[in-house]
Amino acid sequence: MGQASSTPLTDARLVAWVRQAAPYIHAFRGRAFVIAFGGEVLTEGVAQALIHDIALLDSMGIQLVLVHGARPQIDAEMASRGLAPRFHNGLRVTDAATLECVKRAMGVTRIEIEALLSQGLPNTPLAGAFLRVTGGNFISAKPVGVVDGVDFQFTGAVRKVEADEIRADLAQENVVLITPIAASPSGELFNLAWEEVAEAVATAIKADKLIFLCDSAGLKDAQGQLIEALTVEEAEQLLAKQVAQSPEVARVLPGAIRACCNGVGRVHFLDRSLDGAMLMELFTREGIGTVMTRAPLARLREATPEDVGAVLQLIAPLEADGTLVKRGRERIEMEIGHFSLLDHDGVVVGCAALYPLPRQRGEPATAELACLAVLPEYRREGFGDQLRRHIEARAKALKIKRLVVLTTRAAHWFVERGYVEAGIDALPQSRRELYNWQRRSKVLVKNL
Ligand code: ARG
Repeated sequence: MGQASSTPLTDARLVAWVRQAAPYIHAFRGRAFVIAFGGEVLTEGVAQALIHDIALLDSMGIQLVLVHGARPQIDAEMASRGLAPRFHNGLRVTDAATLECVKRAMGVTRIEIEALLSQGLPNTPLAGAFLRVTGGNFISAKPVGVVDGVDFQFTGAVRKVEADEIRADLAQENVVLITPIAASPSGELFNLAWEEVAEAVATAIKADKLIFLCDSAGLKDAQGQLIEALTVEEAEQLLAKQVAQSPEVARVLPGAIRACCNGVGRVHFLDRSLDGAMLMELFTREGIGTVMTRAPLARLREATPEDVGAVLQLIAPLEADGTLVKRGRERIEMEIGHFSLLDHDGVVVGCAALYPLPRQRGEPATAELACLAVLPEYRREGFGDQLRRHIEARAKALKIKRLVVLTTRAAHWFVERGYVEAGIDALPQSRRELYNWQRRSKVLVKNL
């Protein structure tokens, strides 16, 4: 870049960013991503930046299939011939005159994208890169036919994807560019919807990711707020409840859900006009758009010996500021079996432990909830509550009758959740002997 010299602060942020990206860079090497976008990418002037990011993904060893559309180009071609576009249920009706426009618009759009992918100007991210772009007859088509009394004529649906051929091409380190026009076995051409082609290709090659570059930042909830991550079931509910989405997101959503159900690892929805959206989504933990998965990204699980390091890291700052008592590696190693973890996309973001306490005759079965910690970045998402509820459920399963918490700082948090302040007499004899009078923790109790 070489313009303004960077300050130490931005350097530190850059280093932090690259480090955060490292696990993703490792994980994505050799994986297959399908990136799908409409022809608007060319008409809205965002193609250049997009192509740079695509080249970067390619250089990291990610196998890329690009599926493009050409709606605005087809509309322009039709307008120049005085033809009016016709749509039914969001799908173009392609008569013979329209098909001529489709062929031309698709051809031109494809050539322009290939040209963009072939740049190698010095001083651009593409300098020195060579992307070998292939494509061709990977898709065969069939007619959509007559729907609701509307004859779609040359509008087609995907009949078959030559998945093995695409896979073989990707293995040769080619970028596969797919244009949504395809022939039927009888050699007749059909106009296809790019979102359907993207779904079909991603499903057929069992892509690790299907990325839709759309007209908005992602999926919205009923309040119109961006949904950062959701499961397929949650996405189906959005559809069922007809929660309003931007026009393009609404069009791609049903296929996105099917792809996710049929084995595509993750489906992402990103704003195509946001510079660098793919980089921010793919190489940060929290992403920037919406990600759809089959299983929730965050899950509770029991800790294993491999998690000791993660737990130590999580509680170290809280031990340092006195919120938690110091435990030390050895103790955590010995007691790791007591811990439950909140795993967010492979990163341990929270932990809590359950220690059943030895009791004497006449005392109720009591356990201590200890070491509840959540990474600062994740504190607002209710993860603390998920961990607390999980520990309470574990305790109940062990027939524990009362749960105690010793805390110096978080008493109010527990009180809001049904814990009551009690004296140290509420502790079983065994635990009372270990009570640290210096810390003067409050003792809170919840009867289960
Ligand atoms: N970078 C990760 C990925 O590509 C996580 C992305 C999370 N995205 C989100 N919108 N919450 O899978």
